[in-house]
Amino acid sequence: MKDATNMPVDVAIDLRINGKMTQLDVPPNVVLLDALRDRLGLTGTKKGCDHGQCGACTVLVNGEAVNSCLSLAVTHDGDDITTVEGLADGETLSPVQQAFLDHDAFQCGYCTPGQMVSATELMHNHAVGDTDADIAEAMSGNICRCGAYKNIVAAIQSARKAG
Ligand code: FES
Ligand code: FES
Repeated sequence: MKDATNMPVDVAIDLRINGKMTQLDVPPNVVLLDALRDRLGLTGTKKGCDHGQCGACTVLVNGEAVNSCLSLAVTHDGDDITTVEGLADGETLSPVQQAFLDHDAFQCGYCTPGQMVSATELMHNHAVGDTDADIAEAMSGNICRCGAYKNIVAAIQSARKAG
């Protein structure tokens, strides 16, 4: 919809973000990543390529990992969104977060929120096999410019075995 000056009109959407119901008015062309970062202050989700190629912006939508830079916020009315801020339980790190810490699975940390969110999906995805190659393939949508891949795979292996 557009207003009298032909500008798009904000659309009201309801999102459940990290367990909390949130109402948001967003222009129809705003992507989920920008809505989270710029309108809700959830800056843990990172903008890397902004073109669906690096995975830095990964969030869970109804339990599935999604590149939030490619997805319009208005299409998520009623959805359950988990960002990196929602992985921990209060002060207690999630198994994936703890494993990343234990295995030193980051250097600069820019890709880490997206890596941990994708890894969280993998914890429950039994279609992905158990070898390092299986994990690396499943995580191939998350690029790490620091090359921390070996430790990322080790962290995910450890979290999956413990979980
Ligand atoms: S910022 Fe979304 S995939 Fe790179
Ligand atoms: S830890 Fe630096 S980009 Fe992955």
